[in-house]
Amino acid sequence: MNDIARDLLAWYDLSARSLPWRGIRNAYATWVSETMLQQTRVETVKDYYARFLARFPDIASLAEAGEDEVLKLWEGLGYYSRARNLHRGARQVMAEHGGELPHTAAELRGIAGIGPYTAGAIASIAFGERAAALDGNVIRVTSRLMGIREDATAPSGRRRLEAAVLDMLPQERPGDFNQALMDLGSGICTPGTPDCDACPLQARCDAFAAGDAESLPNLPVKRPPKEELWDVLILRQGDRVLMRRRTERLLQGLWVFPMIERGAASGLAGRVRRLTGLRLRGLSPRGEARHVFTHKVWQMRLFDAGADGEAAAPWQWFTPEEMRALAIPAAMRAAREAALSPQRETEAAGEDVSHI
Ligand code: ADE
Ligand code: SF4
Repeated sequence: MNDIARDLLAWYDLSARSLPWRGIRNAYATWVSETMLQQTRVETVKDYYARFLARFPDIASLAEAGEDEVLKLWEGLGYYSRARNLHRGARQVMAEHGGELPHTAAELRGIAGIGPYTAGAIASIAFGERAAALDGNVIRVTSRLMGIREDATAPSGRRRLEAAVLDMLPQERPGDFNQALMDLGSGICTPGTPDCDACPLQARCDAFAAGDAESLPNLPVKRPPKEELWDVLILRQGDRVLMRRRTERLLQGLWVFPMIERGAASGLAGRVRRLTGLRLRGLSPRGEARHVFTHKVWQMRLFDAGADGEAAAPWQWFTPEEMRALAIPAAMRAAREAALSPQRETEAAGEDVSHI
C-alpha cells in the first residue's frame, strides 16, 4: 500500500465520522446515501436517509412506488431530479438487472441517475472496486496534495484528478479510502484556510510545501445566480387553495402556487385571470420570501386572495389536509405556511394592494 493510503487509512481508523450509511453492506443503501449526499450536507441527509430506507427498504419497494410518494419523501432536500432518477434507476434495475445493482463502476454508470461520482462511490464502498469518486471535497484535497493547479472543471484537469486518485487508491479498502478523503476534506482540508497542522498528510502535501493551499482547487469564478422577482398567490375558494404540479425542468413534479413574474406592464388581476381562469377578490400581502437555486434566485412577494370562477387546468384546489400529502418544494415553504394559516379578515383589512 502506498504511503498516502496507509497514513490516511490510519487516520480514518481513529477519526472516521460515525455515519448511518457506514459499516453496512448494502449497495442499495449506499446508492441512496450517495445520491442524497451530492449537493447536500451530511447533517441534513441523516434524517432523510433514515426515513427513505424505512419506507423503501430495497430496490423492489422503491421501484413499485409512485413518483409522488418518492418526491414527498425528498421534500425539502432539493435537486429533485436526483429523486426522480433514483426512482427511474430502481425500475431499470428491476427490469434489466434482475433487481440487483451491477457491481462495477462501468456498469453502474448505465443506470439512470448514476453518474461518474455515484458509480465510483457505490463500486468502491459496496463492492470494493478501486474506483475514484470525485466530489467537491475529494477534488479539493487531491488538488492540494498533488499540486494540481490547472482548472479542475476542465476535462484535462478532471482527468488528472481522477488519475491522481486512482494512483493513491489502495487495493484494500478503496471505499474507506474514498470516504477518508471526503472526511479530510470536510473536517481538515476545508475550503479557504485548511487546518494543515491537524492533517495526517501534511508531510506529503505539495500545496502545504508550496504554501498555496488556499488558492486550490483552481475553480473558475462562478457567475452569481440571476435574480427573478415573482408574486406568489395563495388563491382561496372556501377552505381550499389553488396549486399545480410543475412540468418545467426546475422543480419538475413538485406542487406550487400560482406565480407571476413581476415587471410586466399589465396588472396582476388580469394576469391571474389568464393564468388560472379565476377572478381575484381582495388581495392582501403576506410578506416576502427568497429561495436560492443553483443558477437563479426567486425573490418572492406573497399575496393572499379570494378567487371566483372555475379553475382552468392544470390548476387544482386542495384542502389543508390534502395539501399536507403533496410534495411542495422548500422554495414554497413560506407560501405554504401562509396558505395553511389563513389571515383573519380583520388583519387582512385596511391594506389595499389592488393597484399592483
Ligand atoms: N459525502 C459524499 N459521500 C459521503 C460519504 N460516504 N461520507 C461522508 N461524506 C460524504
Ligand atoms: Fe490539505 Fe493542508 Fe493536508 Fe495539504 S496539508 S492535504 S492542504 S490539510
